[in-house]
Amino acid sequence: MLVSMKSILDVANRDNYGVMAVNSINIEIVRAVIRAAEEMKSPIIVQIGPGQMRAHAHPEDIVPVIKRLANGAEVPVALNLDHGGDLKAIQTGLKYGFTNVMIDASSLSFEENIARTRMVVDLAHQCGISVEAELGHVGQAAEGDYDKNDLLTDVSQAAEFVRRTGVDCLAVAFGTAHGRYPKGYVPKLDFERLAEIKKELKIPLVMHGGSGSGEENLRKAVANGINKINVCTDVFQVAKEAMLNLLKKNENADYLAMCQAAEQAVFEFVKNYIGMIGSGNRYIFSEQVQAIYE
Ligand code: 13P
Repeated sequence: MLVSMKSILDVANRDNYGVMAVNSINIEIVRAVIRAAEEMKSPIIVQIGPGQMRAHAHPEDIVPVIKRLANGAEVPVALNLDHGGDLKAIQTGLKYGFTNVMIDASSLSFEENIARTRMVVDLAHQCGISVEAELGHVGQAAEGDYDKNDLLTDVSQAAEFVRRTGVDCLAVAFGTAHGRYPKGYVPKLDFERLAEIKKELKIPLVMHGGSGSGEENLRKAVANGINKINVCTDVFQVAKEAMLNLLKKNENADYLAMCQAAEQAVFEFVKNYIGMIGSGNRYIFSEQVQAIYE
């Protein structure tokens, strides 16, 4: 069923696990992601960014598909607007019934970030929609941003930011970056900083740039307070490689077979990822619970 992102993350925060948020730009990815979550008995977050909506995943086309698949699912599914950079993007998210919006004003000054986030929180909360914001700045791997200490989230600023904005969850910068790291590079994450932020804030924390982080980093990030992990690049890569592999085996493979190969590969990838970040078996009607109601 389609649910608010806040309802998923508040439980993940209470019980210390991470939930995957996958950028899902077509029916194959949406279906693979939701099917994987169902098989793993895990909550899941489907998300799309404004650029992705402009380029391909037009909300008027894809949102009804996502809602239908989410509402038919056996597990909680949230729909998040990823990286809403301006009011127009936020309005799009609210209008189409996304169940969370992210306002990303992280490249602006601290005060400007607070002002914009506060405004979006006021708007979205009136619609019953929760809000993610970002403090510090998770940059681009291609620009070497994973190595820039001045982009990392400041602990005392984070506490003030949450108090003054009323935001529901916060994306923090502790060493990840969006996109693909240089070949063989595994990001060095500042877990001490992350743990301090969590101790101060106590709200769900979000890790952007989940791709290429490596299993050990992912597990440690969750252990130190991350509850939502955004993954885009890895998922697109897995889908692309599945198509290329099929073509390598059979260059006459048709487009339908390629779509199926991509969907199956994303399904397997998401199942494995869910296992690593601890959200598997978090949504089950156990026998004990059933017995109470019988
Ligand atoms: P990656 O593409 O690095 O996985 O980052 C995704 C992301 O953070 C979307 O907000």
